[in-house]
Amino acid sequence: MSSRYPFPPYANGWFRIAYADEIERGQLATFHYLGREFVAFRDASGTARVLDAFCPHLGAHLGHGGTVVEGGRVRCPFHAWEFDGQGTCVRVPYAKKIPPKAQLRAWQTCERNGVVFLHHDADGREPAYEIPEVDEFASDAWTPLEVRRWTVKARWLDMNENCVDGVHFKYVHGAHTIPESEIEVDGPTFRVRNRMKLGTPKGEVDGGIDTTDYGPALQIVRLSGILPTIMLNTATPIDAETTDVSFAYSVSTEGGAEAARGVGAAIIKDLEKQMAQDIPIWENKTYWGRPILAEGDEGFNTYRKWYRQFFSVDYDSRGSA
Ligand code: FES
Ligand SMILES: [Fe+2]
Repeated sequence: MSSRYPFPPYANGWFRIAYADEIERGQLATFHYLGREFVAFRDASGTARVLDAFCPHLGAHLGHGGTVVEGGRVRCPFHAWEFDGQGTCVRVPYAKKIPPKAQLRAWQTCERNGVVFLHHDADGREPAYEIPEVDEFASDAWTPLEVRRWTVKARWLDMNENCVDGVHFKYVHGAHTIPESEIEVDGPTFRVRNRMKLGTPKGEVDGGIDTTDYGPALQIVRLSGILPTIMLNTATPIDAETTDVSFAYSVSTEGGAEAARGVGAAIIKDLEKQMAQDIPIWENKTYWGRPILAEGDEGFNTYRKWYRQFFSVDYDSRGSA
């Protein structure tokens, strides 16, 4: 455990391991997340499978020279043992008997909204929640998902807390007012509705940002006011200090394709500007278990109480000011 944070580096829940098109049929993909090495591929039915990368035989990394062979199995580059989507060794080409312990760890996955999620639980428990389907993403009335990514030297909690930090919008991002927000907690979901005035070329309009967290690593954000936009924000820990943050967004084409493109471009510009403002703060801040809060900061306590459910250990609240 690093001294920067008083809780374990990897929470329990669903984490994006890849966008769906990063795991192609017949190809073996390699990922480094959650402080581990993974390989991913598609089995004969096209289902994304994720396995630990190191062969149980003599430890070769399957992702360095390994191949996906017929039947959607993985072949180790070292002595050609083959593993199926459950990680079970199904062939040792030079031996009659397969050692019964020849098994790779297989990770539970689910593919939704163009993302392959992997389930991590420190105690090996079944998932406590599901990833919802965003119907709009499959509709022609919305633009195809556009993806942006950042590697940030901070943990997801520092970043996700932005959604309850109405005050920073004014002082970091230059918003004219601190948005009014309403919080709703329901088991593994945490919803914040922010209302604010948006300046447009046609004058001020009422704008809204509804953010719902589904577990520790996925936020679905619905923006309203100009053209309805949906963002799928995912944050996957690479290691104890670093997070792979990604925003994928889709804009409604109700005002025509041209307008959707314009709004999309404006959103990205704003997002990139906001990330450039937030990242130096996140990367250099410390984490106080018991921060000194003022009026208007109430959301932090509600958020922090909510996310404790995603840790197996009841970490204490060290690190106060
Ligand atoms: S190390 Fe993988 S087959 Fe030998
Ligand atoms: Fe921010």
